[in-house]
Amino acid sequence: MLKRRDFLRATLVTAGALAAPACGGDPEIVNPVAGEPAPERELADGSAYFPQSVASGDPRPGSVVLWARVQDGEEDLDVEVEVATDAEFTQRVALDAGLAKVKALARHDHCVKVKVRGLSAGTVYYYRFVYVKGDTGYVSRVGRTKTAPAEEADVKVRFAYVSCQDYIGRFYNTYLALAEEELDFFVHLGDYIYETTGDPSFQSTEGRSVAFTDKAGAIALGEGDSAFHAARSLSNYRELYRTYRSDANLQKVHESFPMIATWDDHEFSNDAFGATATYFDDRKDETDVERRKAANQAWFEYQPVDYGDDAEQDPGASLPDDFRIYRDFVFGQHVHLVMTDLRSYRPDHLIPEGAFPGKVVLDATTLIEELQELPELAMPYVDDIETYSDGIYASVLKEAAEAAGYDAADVTGKISALVINQIVAGVNEGLPEDMQVPLIPDEAIAFMERGIAYVDLGKLSAHGSIGARYLTVKDTFDIYAALRYKETQGASEDVMGAEQESWFLDTMEGSKATWKVWGNEFCLLPLAVDLTPYAIPEQFKRRFNMNADAWDGFPNKRNELLERLVEIGGVVAITGDIHAFYAGTAGLDGDPSKKIVEFVGGAVSSAPFREMLMSQVAGDPVLSAVPGAVLLAAGIDDVLMSTETKVNPHLAHADSNAHGYVVIEASGEELVAEMRRISAADVQTDYSETSDQLEIGSKRFRTLRGESEIYVDDRGTWKRWDASTQMWI
Ligand SMILES: [Fe+2]
Repeated sequence: MLKRRDFLRATLVTAGALAAPACGGDPEIVNPVAGEPAPERELADGSAYFPQSVASGDPRPGSVVLWARVQDGEEDLDVEVEVATDAEFTQRVALDAGLAKVKALARHDHCVKVKVRGLSAGTVYYYRFVYVKGDTGYVSRVGRTKTAPAEEADVKVRFAYVSCQDYIGRFYNTYLALAEEELDFFVHLGDYIYETTGDPSFQSTEGRSVAFTDKAGAIALGEGDSAFHAARSLSNYRELYRTYRSDANLQKVHESFPMIATWDDHEFSNDAFGATATYFDDRKDETDVERRKAANQAWFEYQPVDYGDDAEQDPGASLPDDFRIYRDFVFGQHVHLVMTDLRSYRPDHLIPEGAFPGKVVLDATTLIEELQELPELAMPYVDDIETYSDGIYASVLKEAAEAAGYDAADVTGKISALVINQIVAGVNEGLPEDMQVPLIPDEAIAFMERGIAYVDLGKLSAHGSIGARYLTVKDTFDIYAALRYKETQGASEDVMGAEQESWFLDTMEGSKATWKVWGNEFCLLPLAVDLTPYAIPEQFKRRFNMNADAWDGFPNKRNELLERLVEIGGVVAITGDIHAFYAGTAGLDGDPSKKIVEFVGGAVSSAPFREMLMSQVAGDPVLSAVPGAVLLAAGIDDVLMSTETKVNPHLAHADSNAHGYVVIEASGEELVAEMRRISAADVQTDYSETSDQLEIGSKRFRTLRGESEIYVDDRGTWKRWDASTQMWI
């Protein structure tokens, strides 16, 4: 037990000292703001009262947000905050009384957030929280943080970024490694939590787990052995943060560096848009505003994020009604970090999960009017299913569609002949020969008009994500998206919402920094696969967009933004979400030389993209039946980087089977991205006690000021990616 006065002996502030200027001669008083000397009391190790330890975030030249959570019953609890420039707390920062003594409020799950202002720029600070209980002060672990350098400082900036940290059955070896880095801060690009307690489609069913106390408040999903819950109540979401933040490796990272976080989908719900979830793939409306509010509140309580520059210094601040999380940070002359929110304002995915594959969305007249010609992938359709062939197909189709879970109301008007014949053939299989319905003969099909139906966009099965959010046919999707964009005056791809978008572009445009780093949640660079050369059924010999939940689902808005960003120059996107490491560029349609560089970082722990893709294919009723499909998924990096199909020449590096993080070092000349890779198999092993045995691979890339080229460090020489040959030269 140490007496508090021992800590304070050197730094007891007097009224006289308080009047001294902040940068005055006394090194012991770093930030003399009014504060009373703390009373003497016994100090004791309080780590048991701080089961989530401490964290800091949103560093700015003069301020940083400090966070802790105290656990001791249901009452509001007294907490004191201490900040110093040394880990021993001999050089203490005098805090304003309103900050030095705060309450851990029950209504905020006893989370405490304090925004400390008036700090020196580019300076390391240490902080701790003291839970005052009776005569004893229980001290948290010591956190280290660092303010941002002054805007005019010509300094290198070094930070890491991470994303996707599924906790269930997986270990945070990534954080074990990251904690050893020398960094100014780290960025979290989302999926800090996963809202489900073990979704068998992508989460482990063994090892460490998450369970909800408030099961009644959660959403029950799955059946039998694969039943699980998704968070819905505030209690559920808080419990997720508490559990995730109980991890010692994650705690170590929070204790070492300030974090700048945005959210992606899983902080609320998988593949969400606004307040709408996608578990039921369009079987019902999943909009749930209360659930979204609960998710946001827990995030706000548990993440060390700023509560707004205009807000009063209110450690117990509640979630403001106009809560927005997009925000920017300046780190000296060279880095301007612009963090977006690509989940809260975006529209629904373009192709509904419940869409009836046969429904024609672009008919021949529309296509010719808009494109002056029919695209190659336009397919024959009957003009009116109700009257075609005296309506014999209408009743068969409606019945079959309803049985398969489609909306029979979609089975009207123009319907794909291919789908009619597929369904009729299926129905005929169960019927005696004399009751079978004849297929539409090829001769009739040859004379039909051609258009694009949902099936031609990739929709193959009922109420599924394939062909809606994933694996859409690129060539038809891009046509459809462009026409919808025009028709809705951009609303169909309004990813950011008008207010955020103009803030985003204004911020980028107004930035004087060498590097405008965009903290971007999901892949900006196009990621298509071209399956035409592979030995698979004819129907799949197409180019597919991997993920319409990412920017490939918004190609027109992407192009519009890129036009501005290319013009501004020096913009680099850092990205998470896809659980893979990629380096590449996103270029303008029509002029791929106009582009911006993107570095995509792998998941902290969530199943790597290759694994996810393989299980998605294996789990889809249609794709699993395609011979060779799982093998193709297993070879995804070769498919993405194929020099035969040249489908992604802008993609310079693909590693879809690893975990890890990326370290960025940015100066006035270059921005270096070092991808730190941990093999996928190692996620099952806890290396906390054997960290020397953890293998960490490293691959260095860079881009230079005034260019948008990518270079790789090839044993000491920088080689440039040449998209035309798809080689490093
Ligand atoms: Fe994720």
